[in-house]
Amino acid sequence: MMITILYILVLIFFILLAAMVIVPVFFGAPWHPLSDKNINRIIKFADLQPGETFYDLGSGDGRVLIAASSNQCLRGVGVEIDPIKVWLSRYFIIAAKLADKIRIHRGSMFDFDVSEADVIYLYLTHQALDRLFPEILDRMKIICYRFCIRNLEPTKMNKDKNLFWYQVNKGRTVNEYS
Ligand SMILES: C[S@@+](CC[C@H](N)C(=O)[O-])C[C@H]1O[C@@H](n2cnc3c(N)ncnc32)[C@H](O)[C@@H]1O
Repeated sequence: MMITILYILVLIFFILLAAMVIVPVFFGAPWHPLSDKNINRIIKFADLQPGETFYDLGSGDGRVLIAASSNQCLRGVGVEIDPIKVWLSRYFIIAAKLADKIRIHRGSMFDFDVSEADVIYLYLTHQALDRLFPEILDRMKIICYRFCIRNLEPTKMNKDKNLFWYQVNKGRTVNEYS
């Protein structure tokens, strides 16, 4: 009896994990949790300035937003399609005592209003990036991890060529007040 219950629990765990990782592919991008080292590299590369509003489209477990908001005095906004990750990220944010700085919305990034963003961070796929543009292109500083924006020259790239910075109109103004 105990073995059967254990078996069912393990099965449920793997079904949930598969749903969290694979199902989002059909909505825009799969989930791939980042190591703390990679998150720190991304935050350092983004050169965030106090007062900026940082958006993560497809915010996953929220750890990039947490790192961005705890290192710098900035507001974070995430949008995530998967309700389990929305719940998980909200839990992490409360545990990090950052609930007054970070908001996670449940929904699709393709209908999400980004007009308040100073910095947009994107770890998605080429296909999802193609769908997002050009709507957000002309407004802000955009940081992409692993997947660059096709046919657009980045302003800056790291030496591993997996972090891309696109500095557009709003970003230029924001960076001047540092
Ligand atoms: C590669 S992960 C990046 C997670 C996080 N941004 C990070 O860097 O650690 C992509 C995330 O986008 C989410 N996602 C996929 N399609 C989406 C959509 N249409 N709207 C919002 N989130 C979506 C997935 O559930 C997944 O958590």
